[in-house]
Amino acid sequence: MYQTPMQDTETHQTRKEVAAGMLQRKEEIAFHQAYPEFEKTRVLDELRATEYARLDRAGQVYLDYTGGGLYADSQVRAHMELLLSNVFGNPHSTNPTSLPVTHLIEEVRANVLEFLHASPEEYEVVFTQNASGALKLVGEAYPFGPGGNYLLIYDNHNSVNGIREFARAKGAKITYAPVLPPDMFIDASRLDSYFDLALPGANNLFAYPAQSNFSGVQHSLEWIERAHSKGWDVLLDAAAFTPTNRLDLSAWHPDFVALSFYKIFGYPTGVGCLVASRSAVKKLHRPWFAGGTITVASVKGDAFYFQEGAEAFEDGTLNYLTLPAVRIGLQHIAKVGLNTIHTRVKCLTGWLLDQLTSLKHSNGTPLARIYGPLSTHSRGGTVALNFYDSRGHFIDHRLVEIRANQAGISLRTGCFCNPGGGELALGISAEELVSCFSRSHERLTIDEFRRCIDDKSTGAVRISVGIVTTFQDVYRFVEFSRSFLDNQK
Ligand SMILES: Cc1ncc(COP(=O)(O)O)c(C=O)c1O
Repeated sequence: MYQTPMQDTETHQTRKEVAAGMLQRKEEIAFHQAYPEFEKTRVLDELRATEYARLDRAGQVYLDYTGGGLYADSQVRAHMELLLSNVFGNPHSTNPTSLPVTHLIEEVRANVLEFLHASPEEYEVVFTQNASGALKLVGEAYPFGPGGNYLLIYDNHNSVNGIREFARAKGAKITYAPVLPPDMFIDASRLDSYFDLALPGANNLFAYPAQSNFSGVQHSLEWIERAHSKGWDVLLDAAAFTPTNRLDLSAWHPDFVALSFYKIFGYPTGVGCLVASRSAVKKLHRPWFAGGTITVASVKGDAFYFQEGAEAFEDGTLNYLTLPAVRIGLQHIAKVGLNTIHTRVKCLTGWLLDQLTSLKHSNGTPLARIYGPLSTHSRGGTVALNFYDSRGHFIDHRLVEIRANQAGISLRTGCFCNPGGGELALGISAEELVSCFSRSHERLTIDEFRRCIDDKSTGAVRISVGIVTTFQDVYRFVEFSRSFLDNQK
């Protein structure tokens, strides 16, 4: 039969689509064979189709769960219904609209402790704006001083790095312990030797993330007791860990834990917490007082008493209309099951790692260099990488981001507020960085700084999977990665 050129193109297009669909199906079957436990997480596909349907309606491939989690429709509805059916006044008064809010807030504190399996005798919950707010509370109130130490690892978020400025201002020694590329695990012997720096009687704080927001590495929680045994207090940054892993504070006993709730269940933003051991809280000295943090303050008497416990750290009025949504979010996660989320993330991350490491240009040069473990052992669902062309030159992560945006894929590029992890992974030396910082009296723009760190990537591409990531999402990313093979434009 005669076909017009237009029909010919359409037929060709349809054939290509059919072939692509068949290939995806084949790969999905292979994925299920390689990761049979994925089957147990089917409930999350149903959830994606109902509670998170807006993702597919909008054609979004969301791969930035370490940036922010996603909420179920029902979380928002439940919160709105609560607000629409109650009259909530400012807490901490005895009036009938205030008292229920005070009770509700105390219940949310208890819910957070339950989520972490933390004993209320041992820990208390201070609500903050986010994980950074929690970290800052510790940084500004920890009794750093001469003879004391602030020890941290290279692989930390900037909000943990920033605490060094409080430590520096108060005369404490600051020490960074390295992580070792390419896996990015802590250099255990170096860290152990740094623990010996603690002088008896001085105040020593060790801070590290339970999971890296750069490489996805899960640093061992055993460091907590190792540090304690050598005289250190421990600040655990759990922001990237808690969305897909159980942090069990009946098994592990850090002094301070920081997290953000939107990373776990997407909604609400603007609330995080510091979970602090009651004994460690006694060590903290706040540099100021504010409304809500004191029982009595006098102008003429020039004195004040702090509240006991958490409230001494909560400046001003709490975000009291939003806090009930934290409880709704925690209930949502409990209903779905953190173990189910964990299993799904593990399977999809394993498959992604398998695929990305097997992609090669025709001349055999690998396409992707992954920073972090190549298996799912001791790692979460955050994968940082750079693409390289067939001559082995890195492909600018900004170009990757532009092309991902065009493909409807939400990923993240840069150093993700974790400069130490990036500098070690990318092999940028201290000399290069110091020379760029001192090259000009003016501050360099990001682009000038990149040019200064000559011919090296100053960032990476990060993808991260979470509660309702599907096989199709990660498949789309692998397909997208293939589009860089053999230097395609
Ligand atoms: C490991 C880690 N720590 C701290 C933070 C800071 O969280 P927030 O921006 O919510 O304060 C993040 C955010 O990405 C993170 O991944």
